[in-house]
Amino acid sequence: MLVSHTLHWWQKEIIYQVYPRSFKDTSGNGIGDLRGITQKAVYFQWLGVKAVWLSPVYPSPMKDFGYDISDYCNIHPTLGTMEDFDNLLHELHERGIKLIMDLVPNHTSDVHEWFMESRKSKDNPKRDWYIWADPADSGGPPNNWRSEFGGSAWELDSQTGQYYCHSFLKEQPDLNWFNPEVREAMWEVMRFWLNKGVDGFRVDVLWYLIKDRLLRNNPPNPDWEEGMPDHDKLITAFSNDQPEVHDVVEEMRRVVDEYPNRLIIGEIYLPVDKLVMYYGKEPDTGVHLPFNFHLVSTEWDAQQINKLISEYEGALPAGGWPNWVLGNHDKSRIKARVGEDQLFNAALLLLTLRGTPTMYYGDELGMNDVEIPPEKIQDPREFREPGIGVGRDPQRTPMQWNNSKNAGFTNHDPWLPVGADYQTNNVDSLMENQHGLLQFYHDLIALRQKEPALHGGSFHPVGVQNQLLCYRRQHEQSAFFIALNLGKEETSFTPSFKWRGVVEIASNPKRKGKKIENTIHVNGNDGLLIRITGNSEAG
Ligand code: GLC
Repeated sequence: MLVSHTLHWWQKEIIYQVYPRSFKDTSGNGIGDLRGITQKAVYFQWLGVKAVWLSPVYPSPMKDFGYDISDYCNIHPTLGTMEDFDNLLHELHERGIKLIMDLVPNHTSDVHEWFMESRKSKDNPKRDWYIWADPADSGGPPNNWRSEFGGSAWELDSQTGQYYCHSFLKEQPDLNWFNPEVREAMWEVMRFWLNKGVDGFRVDVLWYLIKDRLLRNNPPNPDWEEGMPDHDKLITAFSNDQPEVHDVVEEMRRVVDEYPNRLIIGEIYLPVDKLVMYYGKEPDTGVHLPFNFHLVSTEWDAQQINKLISEYEGALPAGGWPNWVLGNHDKSRIKARVGEDQLFNAALLLLTLRGTPTMYYGDELGMNDVEIPPEKIQDPREFREPGIGVGRDPQRTPMQWNNSKNAGFTNHDPWLPVGADYQTNNVDSLMENQHGLLQFYHDLIALRQKEPALHGGSFHPVGVQNQLLCYRRQHEQSAFFIALNLGKEETSFTPSFKWRGVVEIASNPKRKGKKIENTIHVNGNDGLLIRITGNSEAG
């Protein structure tokens, strides 16, 4: 098994996602900014975060809140200047914290100069940088592909009579990744930021880059029902995850590898067997971490999660490093999904499974989805398909720093409402609470960093009893037993081997320091991390 000094930083440390508009406003306009993030570098340091990923900070008309980029090598004026960015990078690096940028290569904004050129005429040199096609023989869009945000994935450009493909909003035209010039242009964007010293990229919708060359129709999804998102009407057999995407990923990896010690993470929502293909056919030819979102979609049930872990661990290619995610800016908050009572277990699971954990800002405070009054809605997804739960504003609300007005996020009207629970669920108040969730994250992260068994050790499933999920982490002679009761009933479990240990971290502080021998009893909703002091099976 790997020992900690042979691990890369991105294997050992946790990644923390900041949604810049919602982290900390210093300019007083109700929108978070780069200076705000710099100001809070001390918080990352206190929490033990060693890598921060920023959602996009580039110039953008903000149709999709920064995921529609009009200039890849600049900073959005609302968020600050390039000097602010350089300061942020410097401040983080001074504290030993890495910075990961969001790279959005699948599409640009429709006001990006590349697209403005491309749409001018059929023979414009940039025409082939985007995916243009003639209307179908019978008229209308070239095929049946749907946008992720509902409606056709094709928009007619009346000036040239052709349609362009947009997998998201019509203001986000898809680049043509079969075109080598497009690839080279994006590699130059990457080098621009890598030369500045950023530590890597989280690559937006990586599995979308290549579509079927023949633009064949997608088959219908027999499981689609009224009330489900429009996009799910079809199975995306031809509109994403095509075989040639892996060549693009390999080229992308080579660019990152021109620089020492950098990381690429791919945003990929695919079943486990397809997801792991993004590690590459050969070692070091894919992304380092294809984001594993399966904890987000799997039922909070000990059997189901146990099955997921073994399926995922079993599918990893040789040398493929695992990773786990509990939340992000596109998904309901973990609290809204599993409830307050399970938040300590969610933290334990994320931080003790084998592989790199990615946290979403505010989850360490137990921030909840916030109900957004109709007049405050911002997300285009909600406007396009109202009331079916696809809007993403509830999980993008301001970080809750303290109990002053607007939770200390801004002294203006915040762009999204602050959660009603901010008076108690905020950084300052929770730092005072030794038994609260924030301190629990802090202690757990510190232990994870210190213990090779937790950040680099092997993973061994131990068993599931009712809703009690048990596993073991081991490195040489040091080992931990993790027992998480995902249900409400007290449950006992006796593993097949003899062992004893001492509780090191517990959701119920009364159990801390208690000795355990062979049989473990765990109250409903409780979770324990036990240092194994004797084990008949593994030393
Ligand atoms: C990714 C982003 C999401 C965005 C979409 C289009 O899924 O996480 O926020 O809307 O890509 O760029």
